[in-house]
Amino acid sequence: MHTDLPLRNSSAPADVLADVASVGVALIDGVPGRSGLVALAHSIGTVVPHRDSDLDGATAIEDRAHRDAAMVGFTRAPLAPHTDRSSIENPPGLLLTVCSQEPVSGGESVIVDGQAVYDDLAQTMPSALAALCAPRSALFGGADGYLGSVFAPGPDGVVAVRLRLDSLVRFAPAVAPHIPALRAAIERHLVTLPVRTGAGYVLNNRRWLHGRRGFAGPRLMYRVTADPRPHTVTAGFRPETTVTGETAVPTVLRRQEPIDTTTTAEPAPLSSITAPGDHP
Ligand SMILES: [Fe+2]
Repeated sequence: MHTDLPLRNSSAPADVLADVASVGVALIDGVPGRSGLVALAHSIGTVVPHRDSDLDGATAIEDRAHRDAAMVGFTRAPLAPHTDRSSIENPPGLLLTVCSQEPVSGGESVIVDGQAVYDDLAQTMPSALAALCAPRSALFGGADGYLGSVFAPGPDGVVAVRLRLDSLVRFAPAVAPHIPALRAAIERHLVTLPVRTGAGYVLNNRRWLHGRRGFAGPRLMYRVTADPRPHTVTAGFRPETTVTGETAVPTVLRRQEPIDTTTTAEPAPLSSITAPGDHP
């Protein structure tokens, strides 16, 4: 269990915002379903519509028996920790979820602090971290997706995380061998949250990753993405260790290049990738 997680389970907007601003995540409880989640989102930011959302900005995440990779969120399958909307240049800064119906078994949410993963790799596997920071070293979401890196150092020392580990990501040849180390670091910092009606989380989508366990029976979650108001939540985190230009691996992935897909179980051809499938 992550020892720095706030434990107060408050859904008061001021408390949620304070927790997200300080540690990147807030655990919420007693949220009255969809309308409550949408109201909370409006109180702390600007709701960002999603491809799959309804007019109020909320998406019902449930098993719809989809079979294509881009819609795996609408199944009962587990989802590896990921960033929502990783295929666009500026993913929304906030992700809010709440459970509306508990499954018969499984379905727990999993979340991971990207800062903890970054600092872990800086200590245990600096060469992996340098590769994961290299610009244009990962293609998120297919040929029309976003060409960037897992960790993106920005101005003022802020680093943003961006990740997906499904069949809709491609890593440059110099990065792919380090994905097992990344997966191992993620596993070391994984936090499992029980899925319970009215409970959920709000997280900084540029700092924390989220996923879920597979489940049986009906499971209904609502998801809203939003952008925080200016100067409230940083678009990333400030790591304890900085990867300098000297240590960064100069590996560049161009869209036209053959791509090493050894890290994905059953990679889809680039032409078949249409849209991200990122859900809580
Ligand atoms: Fe997601």
